[in-house]
Amino acid sequence: MGLCGYSLLPVLLFLLSGVHDASSYNPSNCLLNDVQGTWVFQVFEGQGPKDNRINCSKLGSPKNKVVIHLRGLNVAEDHISSSGFFTIIHKKGFEVVLNDYKWFAFFKYEGNYRHWTVYCNETFPGWVHDVQGKNWACFTAKKSSDENIRISEARHGQETNSNTHEFGKPINRAQNSWTATGYEKSNVNQMMKRSCHSSFPRPKPVSMSQIMLHKAQTLPRSWDWRNVNGVNYVSPVRSHGNCYGSYAFASMAMLEARIRILTNNSQTPVLSTQQIFSCSEYSQGCEEGISYLTAGKYAQDFGIVEENCFPYLDGRATPCSPKNCPRYYVSEYHYVGGFYGACTEELMRLELVEHGPIVSLFEVYDDLPRHRKGIYHHKCNGGMFCNVKLINFEVLIIGYGTDEETGEDYWIVKDGLGTTWTETSGFFRVRRGTNECGIEGAAVAATPVPRL
Ligand SMILES: *[C@@H]1O[C@H](CO)[C@@H](O)[C@H](O)[C@H]1NC(C)=O
Ligand SMILES: *[C@@H]1O[C@H](CO)[C@@H](O)[C@H](O)[C@H]1NC(C)=O
Ligand SMILES: *[C@@H]1O[C@H](CO)[C@@H](O)[C@H](O)[C@H]1NC(C)=O
Repeated sequence: MGLCGYSLLPVLLFLLSGVHDASSYNPSNCLLNDVQGTWVFQVFEGQGPKDNRINCSKLGSPKNKVVIHLRGLNVAEDHISSSGFFTIIHKKGFEVVLNDYKWFAFFKYEGNYRHWTVYCNETFPGWVHDVQGKNWACFTAKKSSDENIRISEARHGQETNSNTHEFGKPINRAQNSWTATGYEKSNVNQMMKRSCHSSFPRPKPVSMSQIMLHKAQTLPRSWDWRNVNGVNYVSPVRSHGNCYGSYAFASMAMLEARIRILTNNSQTPVLSTQQIFSCSEYSQGCEEGISYLTAGKYAQDFGIVEENCFPYLDGRATPCSPKNCPRYYVSEYHYVGGFYGACTEELMRLELVEHGPIVSLFEVYDDLPRHRKGIYHHKCNGGMFCNVKLINFEVLIIGYGTDEETGEDYWIVKDGLGTTWTETSGFFRVRRGTNECGIEGAAVAATPVPRL
């Protein structure tokens, strides 16, 4: 343990717990082997029209049951077809695509910040529709009870004390364009295993094919979407204000850049992040969200209007009221490598150069706000917040390279924190090839459809 000062961990676990509504926090940490096995998906009618306006908070009358087997790393099958696909989504839910239907739900959990119980064998009501985006219904999924089942519990309340709030203050003082908040109250043991340098346990990368490896070796030694033969394809950095819903900013920034790339900069829309914060049931506003479900699933199911049709209101939980404007959809979205757990540094560079910027998780530690220049890597210096992750961030990766003097490999990251945060005008570099702060753990890509 040494330098890492674990004794403070239990107290810090609930960093700033009072700042936001704990009910919007999703504590799930379900893993691949929790999900592998046989599931029963019970379909319900839901309320309202059978399109994307369906309301699954009241399930309505039950319809058929579908039995689905999730096997191996990503295979979904039923008694008819074995050509299906599944992926876990950042340990919080899963998506299944089988027989031209797409199923998505979050794992069920209950409790409060003092004691969460996560049921990796059940889900909250989720959404199902065909791959054309039609024929919507609601469903709940239950793993058949003879499978091995893991219930994950996390208790933190006893260790927190009334001074908890104090711990956020130094962080907020260190910078002023974002606010530290509810620290991920995930599995304490996992946290304890974290070393100073390596990051949280990521899904084990799947070994890459020789073909892909060879392809990656032929990529340019450096790349920067701000300057490809003198042309910039990256949309301007935006300020978050008080909303740290970085997943939405990074997601929109990816779609914006990719639209520019696909149209040779003849279309340069700025997309509405407020629409995500106000409208998406696949995320929790400023509090929490996942790019796979934002740049990917939400954009595919609902489309995104431009900024001027639903201007940014500091991410406030205002009613979902975009103007009736044209929307940008995505035709496809995926975890780099095909599913959660398949990401590698080489595949990230391939996706980046061939298709455009990608979104990646990035864990923010207390030393990041103090980072000013050079290539960032998390340094555990024994300080109060040593090894304590402040928030889960998602960032846009726009390029990569190698430092000429030191030989250190890096990613170029658009942090979306606005221009006031660092002296880097919204861009900084992160060590590449070592899964620094989880950045190579689960990158996400999506393909937007430009206007005609
Ligand atoms: C869905 O239905 C519930 C219960 O009837 C209601 O409280 C909620 O506002 C509805 N949600 C939407 C988005 O209409
Ligand atoms: C999930 O596991 C818990 C604990 O074993 C059990 O109480 C619950 O009934 C299980 N759910 C299903 C759908 O089997
Ligand atoms: C892309 O745009 C640039 C600058 O306007 C132009 O010079 C170039 O010919 C365009 N490329 C294509 C393939 O249209």
